[in-house]
Amino acid sequence: MNDRFAERAAEWNFNPRIIKMFRAFVDQFRKEIPLTTDMNLLDVGGGTGLIAFDLADSVKSITIVDSSPAMVKTAREHLVEENISNVTIIESDILHADLGDQKFDRIYGHMSFHHIENIDGAFDRFAKLLVPGGMLIIGDLMSEDGSFHGEETVPHNGFDPVKLSAKLMIRGFSKMQTLPLESMDRPETGSSFERFFLVAVK
Ligand SMILES: C[S@@+](CC[C@H](N)C(=O)[O-])C[C@H]1O[C@@H](n2cnc3c(N)ncnc32)[C@H](O)[C@@H]1O
Repeated sequence: MNDRFAERAAEWNFNPRIIKMFRAFVDQFRKEIPLTTDMNLLDVGGGTGLIAFDLADSVKSITIVDSSPAMVKTAREHLVEENISNVTIIESDILHADLGDQKFDRIYGHMSFHHIENIDGAFDRFAKLLVPGGMLIIGDLMSEDGSFHGEETVPHNGFDPVKLSAKLMIRGFSKMQTLPLESMDRPETGSSFERFFLVAVK
């Protein structure tokens, strides 16, 4: 499989644009989403682990599932360096990851959902993986014209959160709430990409 993150994984955590987006998501997550030290979280497309490593001391466990060998390698190196014991990393597509019979209190993904081809399949899976009252949290791009990824094509050029909410509703989610998430600005081209923070309760 072609690893589209192979070239970027080693530098990911040092890219100011990435850090700015990650920080905006984590700050909003901590503000909006209740967390307790008995909770188990699933990080969908957790990449190098920026978010999981930040949240780890507030919860019981976090499982990162990510399909990029390069991103997972970087995440594993930091896990050892930072001596974090309650984060597990699984290299796999989220649709096929072996999670045993584990259930999660929170499932979240930051800038990963637009890379997942089968969003319906992923939502089916999350509906089964969440405990009753558990929350799904998505931080991602609003629908855009494809210029966010330049020459690269991805399965989704952002999303309309209203359409995502409708998909979640038919799978038994409720209390969908969409908030703005700090946009991603590219001053060099004068472009700005709107982002959203969607929360749904199972
Ligand atoms: C833009 S990166 C975001 C990484 C991280 N969430 C962050 O905010 O720094 C998207 C990540 O999603 C992962 N990904 C894409 N499709 C996936 C899938 N189907 N299953 C699991 N991970 C996936 C990629 O490998 C990549 O690490």
